[in-house]
Parts: sequence; structure tokens; C-alpha cells
Amino acid sequence: MSNILLVGGGGREHAIAEALCRDDSVRLFAVMNCKNPGIIALSQSDDWVVHNENDINWVTNWADEKNIDFAVVGFEEPLGEGLCDELENRGIPALGPKKEAARLETSKVFTRVLLDEYDIPGNAEYQLFSDPNELSKFLKSTSKQYALKPVGLTAGKGVKIMGEQLKTTEEAIQYGHEVIQQEIGQYAQILLEERLTGEEFTLQCFVDGKTLVPMPLVQDFKRASEGDKGPNTGGMGSYSQANGLLPFVTEDDRDEALSILEKIIAILSSKKGIKYQGVLYGQFMIGGNGIKLVEINARFGDPEAMNVLSLLETSLVDICKAIINGTLDKLNVRFSNKASVCTYVAPPGYETGNPKSDSKLVVDEPRIKEIGAELYYAKVELKHGAVLTTSSRSLAVVGIADTTRQAHAVAEDALHCIKGEFHARHDIGKKYFSSEETYKDIIDDHNHIDNQCMGVG
Ligand code: AMP
Ligand code: GLY
Repeated sequence: MSNILLVGGGGREHAIAEALCRDDSVRLFAVMNCKNPGIIALSQSDDWVVHNENDINWVTNWADEKNIDFAVVGFEEPLGEGLCDELENRGIPALGPKKEAARLETSKVFTRVLLDEYDIPGNAEYQLFSDPNELSKFLKSTSKQYALKPVGLTAGKGVKIMGEQLKTTEEAIQYGHEVIQQEIGQYAQILLEERLTGEEFTLQCFVDGKTLVPMPLVQDFKRASEGDKGPNTGGMGSYSQANGLLPFVTEDDRDEALSILEKIIAILSSKKGIKYQGVLYGQFMIGGNGIKLVEINARFGDPEAMNVLSLLETSLVDICKAIINGTLDKLNVRFSNKASVCTYVAPPGYETGNPKSDSKLVVDEPRIKEIGAELYYAKVELKHGAVLTTSSRSLAVVGIADTTRQAHAVAEDALHCIKGEFHARHDIGKKYFSSEETYKDIIDDHNHIDNQCMGVG
């Protein structure tokens, strides 16, 4: 038996819990700041607790009390607070980088400077400002467009792009001043990066300090509304292709992105004496200027975790052990050759920034399973047996099939099994469907639909 502690209670963490529990040897323990019904269903009643995950001492004491063999930390805040360091001090190995290594995510400047200092390819031009007047002067003197980024953590919502959310130079200056003066992102600083253009993709890897094992590529849809409109969110949905690539990313492109991540891990180890252990998430932009790094995260993406973990065939427990023991190079990590489409269900009004809490969702779990989709709960409230929305994303469905087009259809069917008021995007991955499919796939699909209409299929 392995006693495994999971830290976090979102959709990503439910997917991690589900993947861990596919292994019969697992007894799951969980600390989360809300009652995630999916995680609760996978653990015994004394083995989960609702508590602030950033309360490092408390979480470490609890882990100690429960004789945890190893911990999996799902999200960035406790990583930034040094939870993995504290757990290790108590002799509990953790999946997740220690505080110094997590700086790849918790400080956007740290990562940009690292790439610069060691000539790692894929960097964007950048400049750091802490004086509002200098920032104004600079922005007025240039016609280039920039991404304005608070330096520390902002739950994916602090980045604003000139020409997108920031329509004029004045708006950019005003936002820059706000970030510096209100210390949005924990520092009185703002990072300006050249505005990258092209298509974005996510490459997640398991890392044991030296070996990186890549997972299938995923594309995340961050904008709240269909057609990539509305404010940025943590992600409204994501898809992956059966061959692990994307319609606009070749194998060579993927290898180039992977080699950027490999160089980062190698430099951290050889030049800074920092060992990176856990999941590494690289967000890249591919376009006219080749492949550029948009950002690094120190954990699985949410929703991207739900795509790759739904496809993972190798035991996640074995992978965790190989990461802890530094033996990832000896493990054959496999994913099924299927496509996936993940769609988040968010509270009504989420798309306009006015999410409605306490809206009741009735989820037909057996039917969702029957149609071959996965269901992952995120931030919901449980009251008198009912699932209620909070102000955050509520739950996600993942369709799995041979093509993304078919996986999308499965995810859409799964959405029909959820009754109540909610906001979801129905266009996840849709604009790319034709590029991965043969004419025959589409015809087969049509025949299937026609037969159903005639009551035959
Ligand atoms: P981040 O929190 O760094 O992932 O940024 C959130 C989103 O902002 C990214 O997924 C991109 O869509 C966009 N973004 C970030 N940096 C840039 C950049 N330098 N140029 C263009 N878009 C960016
Ligand atoms: N989906 C983006 C993130 O997890 O940061």
C-alpha cells in the first residue's frame, strides 16, 4: 500500500487523483480548500480534509500524522511557499519542485534572465520597470507592442497585451502604473515582453532532475467566450491530437520546444545547483519567428492535465516513484494514441466577470461514463447532496476518441448530461478539425449520423 497525499482541489487535482487511484496499491489522502466531490469519492472519510493548502506547517504536520509515503502538489502557490521543501525536511518526498526551482513559475523575470544568461534559445525580448515614469517614457517612445506582466503569481489573470486587452498606449501606461503601485504579482515591478504572435501550445513533461519525459501536446483556450473573445481565464478547454502533436506543430517543432526545456533543467542543475523534480509545463508560441517560450509553469496545466492524464496508460504511481528515485530514463511512459477534448463548465456569467454562485448543477455521472467521457470536478459547493457553482470553474468533461472532431462530439454529448445554468465554450479545437482528418473519417461520421436519424445505427 502507498499512502499518497494530494494537495489541491481543482479539476487538475481530480484528474491526478483519478490517475493515481487506477493503481490498486494507492490509499489517497487529500488536502483541499473546497469539497471536491471527485476527490472525496476516491478517498476514505478520514483521509481528506478541507484546509488552506498554503498553510505549509499545517499540511506538513497532517502529512506526518498520516504516514504519507509521498506527496503530489497540484498547483503553484504551495510550491512557491516551499511546501515541497518542508515535506522533504520531514522525510516525505514530494512531486513538485522545491521553492527555488519553482521560481521558473513564481518569477517571470527569473526565467527570462536565465534564458538570457545561458543563451538558451526561445527567449522573448524583455525589460523590467519599477519606476512608473520610466515606464511611461519608454512606452511613449516606441511603436512596438508589448505583453505587460506582473512578476509573481496572479492565477493566470495578470497578463495584458497591447493591441488586445490594452487598446492604447495610455491604457498600457495606466495598467503598468497600477501593477507597480498596487504590487500586483507581489512586487512593485512590471515586466514588458515583446508581443509574440502565432499559435500557442503546451508541452508538459515529467522531470526527475535530469530526464524529461514529454507528454502529448495540448492547446489550451484561455479566453472566456467562443471565437477567443472575452477576458483571459485559467482556461476554458483544451484538446490534444491522437499522434501527440498539433495541426500546426510538427515533430521537429515539438523536439525544438523539448530541447529548450531540457536546457533549462540542465542549466538549473549544473550552474545553479537546483534540482527540478515534478511536472514542468512549457507554454510556447509558434509563428513567423520560430518557437518562443511564453512561460513556464511548475506543475500540470489546468485544464491540460485532464487531457494527458485521461490518456496516460502507464501507472502514475510508477512515474512518481521514478521521479523521486531519479530513474525516469528507465521507465517506458505510454499514452494511448487517442485524441482528447476537454471542456470546462463554469458558472453562468463567468464570461463577463460576474460569475453566479449557488447555481444548481445536476450531473448524470453514469450517463457520462456510458458515452465514454471523463468527468472531473473542480470548484463546486456541496449542499444537501446538490452540486452548486462557486465563482470559479465548476467541472470539466473530456471526450476521448480517434480524432479530435470525434472527441469533441463526445465532450458535447457529455455536456448534455449536465442540467442547470452554466457557461461553456462549444468551439474547443474546432477550427483545426479538418487538418487532422481524412475525407473518409468525415464521411464515416456522416453515415453514422444518417443511420441514427433513420433509426438504424
Ligand atoms: P501567462 O500568464 O504568462 O501564461 O500569460 C497568459 C497568456 O497571455 C498566455 O497564454 C498568452 O496567451 C499571453 N501572453 C503571455 N505572454 C505573451 C507575449 N509575450 N506575447 C503575446 N502573448 C503573450
Ligand atoms: N492552463 C494554463 C495553466 O494551467 O496555467
